[in-house]
Amino acid sequence: MLKAVYPGSFDPMTKGHLDIIMRASNNFDKLIVAVLNNINKSPVFTLEERIDMIKDCTRNMGNIEVKSFSGLLVDFVEKEKAKVVIKGLRDISDFQYELQMSMMNKMLKPEIETMFMLAAPQYSFYSSSAVKEVAKYDGRIDELVPFEIIDTVKKGLSKANNF
Ligand code: PNS
Repeated sequence: MLKAVYPGSFDPMTKGHLDIIMRASNNFDKLIVAVLNNINKSPVFTLEERIDMIKDCTRNMGNIEVKSFSGLLVDFVEKEKAKVVIKGLRDISDFQYELQMSMMNKMLKPEIETMFMLAAPQYSFYSSSAVKEVAKYDGRIDELVPFEIIDTVKKGLSKANNF
């Protein structure tokens, strides 16, 4: 079984993330969406909220599992017996950052491959931080996040004041 891991903070998930999940899941037997549980980062949404939002959007996709991880990504990938890490690239600055990260992961566990998928053009400027910024000033986020989670994202961001 060819298994891949798509890791991220997903704080919150955007339509760009969902597009990568859908396209990646078409090319692997199983895709694990791995949500970072990092005590050093202070996400707006709790780990459970971030996991639930991804589950809400991927309910109809049979080969997807949503899990959390902490520590090194490569250790999680190995534990899950996966071979591939999927990363989405929107632009050259994503590439610069991800190149460094994938080299580091390669040094740690050479048997794990990172595969890059280009963001669909219509989502190439979407990001979780842009969603938070737009919502902070009462802008419309309906186009930015999957429809299943629009209300959850709006409610969560209206309660939060630390982003
Ligand atoms: O959505 P993000 O915040 O860009 O995702 C970043 C993530 C979670 C993929 C990255 O921070 C990560 O892999 N963190 C785990 C720690 C790790 O393994 N780092 C790589 C070696 S430097």
